[in-house]
Amino acid sequence: MSSKRPIGLLDSGFGGLTVVSEVFRQLPQEDIVYVGDNLRCPYGSREPQEVKRYLFQIMDFLAEQDVKMIIIACNTATAAGLEAAKSRYNIPVLGVITPGSRAAIFATQRGRIGVIGTEVTIRSDSYRREIHRINPQLHVVNRSCPPFVQLVEEDRTDSAEARLLVRDYLAPIREEQIDTLILGCTHYPLLAPVIGEVMGEGITLISSAEETAREASAILQVKQMLNEQNPHPSHRFYTTGNPDYFCEVGSRWLKRSIEVAGIKLDD
Ligand code: SIN
Repeated sequence: MSSKRPIGLLDSGFGGLTVVSEVFRQLPQEDIVYVGDNLRCPYGSREPQEVKRYLFQIMDFLAEQDVKMIIIACNTATAAGLEAAKSRYNIPVLGVITPGSRAAIFATQRGRIGVIGTEVTIRSDSYRREIHRINPQLHVVNRSCPPFVQLVEEDRTDSAEARLLVRDYLAPIREEQIDTLILGCTHYPLLAPVIGEVMGEGITLISSAEETAREASAILQVKQMLNEQNPHPSHRFYTTGNPDYFCEVGSRWLKRSIEVAGIKLDD
């Protein structure tokens, strides 16, 4: 048995493309539909209830596209609404926090893990709770880094300002003797070169993208829903923002040319 229906992915903007890139690598025969809510990005400083409402609007749009699974490729939306999202439709819904936590637990050598994310994600304490559910002995330190998302959305990841902000925000976490740092926002892997430079050698950076795509693959396999014969998969991208800008930045980050359409969601 197999399913030709697409996988749906969503994010507040460009960050979820880090998960898309892993889906392309691990599940190359799958069709995908991606929604970036660039117009309302960032989600990270909004009220969780508002983020949850946005999440459900996008999920409804994806359900209309007949997706077979939804990946919430956004930590903030995962923290704000994953549990409620799971029962909205009769399809698997995955977030990025559990896969990211698992990857960090696997990677840490000395049991000291740092987590950086948006205000909503860090306030929810979701990473610490998830890590401690699996291994209560691990030491976890949290730090919110609100300006990082805008650096990515505005395509300024390689700027002097990015270096300055990253250095500033990561200073307290550098004193914590961590050996593993979770990039607890799907935008942050796009800043990984600067974050890696600031944190220095010997710190493993964890992006949940790889582990999330692996989990999606495992679920589809168990449910016999993999798309097994699809030599020309379709990749549809939608944004609530400017489609031309999304196309330019997204094509560069994904290293392939993509087509992007605009959508309007009620506010
Ligand atoms: C944001 O919109 O603030 C960031 C999205 C994320 O947490 O992954």
